Amino acid sequence: MKPLVEPYKIKTVEPIKLLSYPEREQKLKQGHFNLFNLKSEDVFIDLLTDSGTSAMSDFQWAGLMLGDEAYSGSKSYYNLEKTVQDIFGFKQVIPVHQGRAAEHIFFATVLKRGDYVPSNTHFDTTRANISYVGALPVDLAIQTKDCEHPFKGNIDLQKLENFIKKVGKEKIPLATLTITNNSVGGQPVSLQNIRETKFLLSKYGIPLYIDACRFAENAYFIKKREKGFENKSIKEICQEMFSYAEGCLMSAKKDGLANMGGFFACNDETLAEKVTHFLVLFEGFRTYGGLAGRDLEAIARGLQEVLDEEYLSFRINQVKYLGDQLDKLGVPIVKPTGGHAVFVDGGAMLSHLKKENYPAQALACALYKEGGVRSVEVGGLMLSHKDKETGKMIFPEADLVRLAIPRRVYTNSHMDYVASVFEEVKKKKDKVKGLKLVYEAPWLRHFTAKLEEV
Ligand code: F0G
Repeated sequence: MKPLVEPYKIKTVEPIKLLSYPEREQKLKQGHFNLFNLKSEDVFIDLLTDSGTSAMSDFQWAGLMLGDEAYSGSKSYYNLEKTVQDIFGFKQVIPVHQGRAAEHIFFATVLKRGDYVPSNTHFDTTRANISYVGALPVDLAIQTKDCEHPFKGNIDLQKLENFIKKVGKEKIPLATLTITNNSVGGQPVSLQNIRETKFLLSKYGIPLYIDACRFAENAYFIKKREKGFENKSIKEICQEMFSYAEGCLMSAKKDGLANMGGFFACNDETLAEKVTHFLVLFEGFRTYGGLAGRDLEAIARGLQEVLDEEYLSFRINQVKYLGDQLDKLGVPIVKPTGGHAVFVDGGAMLSHLKKENYPAQALACALYKEGGVRSVEVGGLMLSHKDKETGKMIFPEADLVRLAIPRRVYTNSHMDYVASVFEEVKKKKDKVKGLKLVYEAPWLRHFTAKLEEV
């Protein structure tokens, strides 16, 4: 088999440094066992997120110099508009500074208290922005025991229809699909599922919006796994995916291959006008949306580059390469690996810890302590919530640690190193201590939580 080779060469390097074990131990304590509190210079391999961490290409860097910084009518905005119209097929393109800003201005425009928004799975900022306006996010992803299911990100259409019938279509101003489905492991959604979701929603007059952050990775999976798409280009698949939606919300920090930015796009001119009211209030004028002209240019170029199949093939297979190594070591991972990350079952790996002691967060801390690897918990700390009636904490089923791979940043030998850190942690896993929460914020608590060892 052909070895997995990066389809690019390195023009600029950024040094990284591994602190000593006692230093890392101290940084962890100082950071209250919350890896968001670490300084990045104290991290050796940073797998906290794939968001805003991509390495830009020479083509993008060259575009920065051409960025048009005009307050209104920037040439770079029109380049972005044209690119989005071409790939996504939406006429109205509203730039914002990042994905959650699109969520904020769109949901504040279309939702009211007591509404419901069904989805395959809402990402945590999406969930928070829907809740913020008093509406209720509902997750209806398929549950499958088939661990090699090719499209684990799909929405369960039967559950969706039952839900619409239960609460009534008047209470559902829109539904969303997150592609790929980040919270269930970066798993893709099939084109058949997108199409069938559209047809079902149309029956009830409910519009569909797509959370498009990782749209190109999703399209690659469709090309590789779904019958009938093997000979289509990634762009053609993207065009078809979005043809079934009324609009999309995009964080360009992922498949935009940019360090900052995003957009909301749709075809409805009246809706775009209403969303623009909030845009001007919170973000900026319609042709820059809180971004510099050079950012708009970098995104326009990134969106074209991300469609390159050679790039996507390396990208998806690098994630799989790390996943396969962990699997061989007997580390429990979510299978198959997703588009942007390997998800490790921290609850299963540290089975001596109770859910209340956040085993996945404890594993994330152990990985940093052992080898300076930063990951993020997607488990009890991020996702548990208090039951409104009983006041009891409801914990998610799985306590996962996400190893998100930044795009075009790390080589395969970095992946080998991460696997070796897991090997070491696994040897002493029974000694890893659980954690207790000593501070939490009212929204998105995992970002600022403080914890202590128990
Ligand atoms: N939707 C999805 C599916 C996401 O993964 C994210 C961000 C957002 C929306 C919000 O975008 O960060 O630009 O405001 N995900 C990052 C992550 C933070 O690490 O998965 P944003």
